[in-house]
Amino acid sequence: MEVERLSFPARKQWDVGDFQEAMKDLFFVFVDGEISGFLIAHCWGKEDRGIIMRVAVHPGCRGRGVATRLIESAIGAFREMDIREVEIDVEIVKGGAIQLYERVGFRIIRSIPMDENNTMSDENGSYYMMKMDIDQS
Ligand SMILES: CC(C)(COP(=O)(O)OP(=O)(O)OC[C@H]1O[C@@H](n2cnc3c(N)ncnc32)[C@H](O)[C@@H]1OP(=O)(O)O)[C@@H](O)C(=O)NCCC(=O)NCCS
Repeated sequence: MEVERLSFPARKQWDVGDFQEAMKDLFFVFVDGEISGFLIAHCWGKEDRGIIMRVAVHPGCRGRGVATRLIESAIGAFREMDIREVEIDVEIVKGGAIQLYERVGFRIIRSIPMDENNTMSDENGSYYMMKMDIDQS
């Protein structure tokens, strides 16, 4: 919860209930002495599809490859579950995160318009849907 609080603005933070609901499928924690980051993902086995819902790294531990390792671990787990396509939705303002996802193999598919109330709107494009095909070989 501390990593969450330090990583997202108050209006976008998840509470304990949100975490408990989301953590049912994949929950990875990076521990280096103490918890420095986490990743939460959801899988639809029947559809061969996974979605990375949240990645965050403690501000004091960023830029050292923690998020990259978390994402690579999730992709390894997806591969073992025969999941072939992984999606992540990223705020367009998060240029750094977009670069990070592109580096591990995600590609921008389309932009998703959202307004400030998180409802769909045609006016403010604010998210990219990014996807990655997992090589099963
Ligand atoms: C995005 C985030 C998870 C990256 O974690 P991290 O452990 O620092 O990432 P890594 O060290 O694995 O990768 C770093 C690379 O990502 C990119 N990157 C990540 N954040 C960046 C930023 N704020 N500015 C510029 N580049 C950034 C760079 O390409 C960087 O490569 P470099 O270190 O060679 O310059 C972390 O900054 C974070 O928790 N941010 C707040 C929460 C958030 O935005 N989560 C993503 C929601 S989609």
